[in-house]
Amino acid sequence: MRVAFVGKGGAGKSAISGTFARLLARRGHPVLAIDSDPLPGMAYSLGLDRDDAPLPDEAIEDRPDDEEGPRYRLRAGLSAAEAVERHAATAPDGVRFLQFGKIRTDPRALFRSQLAFRQIIKELPDDRWHLVGDLPGGTRQPFTGWGAYADTYLVVVEPMAKSLLSARRLARLASAAERPVQVLAVANKVSESGDAEMVARRSGLEVVASVPLEPAFAAAERAGRAPLDLVPESAAVGAVSLLVDRLDRQPLRGAAT
Ligand SMILES: Nc1ncnc2c1ncn2[C@@H]1O[C@H](COP(=O)(O)OP(=O)(O)OP(=O)(O)O)[C@@H](O)[C@H]1O
Ligand SMILES: [Mg+2]
Repeated sequence: MRVAFVGKGGAGKSAISGTFARLLARRGHPVLAIDSDPLPGMAYSLGLDRDDAPLPDEAIEDRPDDEEGPRYRLRAGLSAAEAVERHAATAPDGVRFLQFGKIRTDPRALFRSQLAFRQIIKELPDDRWHLVGDLPGGTRQPFTGWGAYADTYLVVVEPMAKSLLSARRLARLASAAERPVQVLAVANKVSESGDAEMVARRSGLEVVASVPLEPAFAAAERAGRAPLDLVPESAAVGAVSLLVDRLDRQPLRGAAT
């Protein structure tokens, strides 16, 4: 499975993607969580206490002059899979966590780290990890560039006008993507019975999960804890678990599992 969560800022991408990654790992799958948002997000919802662990400088080198491509690359001999094995953080439930590097890092080191991050997600083997991504808010490049590793996009939508508008735009962008992608909606912060139907009708997307409004999610964030650890029995975590069940039928890309 290669999924990425997209949607308007604040819709709940980080809270849901981190929870999703851990629940998928609990089903026995190798999971690589990928956070390409330069602002903090997925680390907290996975239950990591650090949000900034960019690739170390020794994993990266200048690209030789006679080679095409960006200025920096992974050190010669270091494959994308090895870079993950060695340098990705390990979150609870064994989820490996790769991130883009946060903007408080020294700018040059950050630039090097980001190019290497991009190389890794481009060159990851198909049969090693299930990928679960948290993409930055908005419509910029979710289906190309940073988000191109995914083949299923889950648009997190709040049952509110602006969020619904963003979902419609994302659906349109997806239909114009150069490669075939699947786009599904996750209704989040749902509090009324008609909310999920409204999201389906107004976004034009199939709603594959309906996550209730759960005040403890915000409390978890304030406490710096994963929602899954603070309120494991909540209906909201239950809804994310159903979403994992629903998508878990997809095999690792390229592998006959
Ligand atoms: N189902 C929910 N019920 C209540 N609060 C929620 C729920 N899902 C997310 N939240 C809260 O909404 C806020 C935004 O969530 P989150 O950070 O996951 O959104 P995001 O889409 O990743 O935002 P950004 O675009 O800024 O990265 C957080 O305070 C989070 O705890
Ligand atoms: Mg986020």
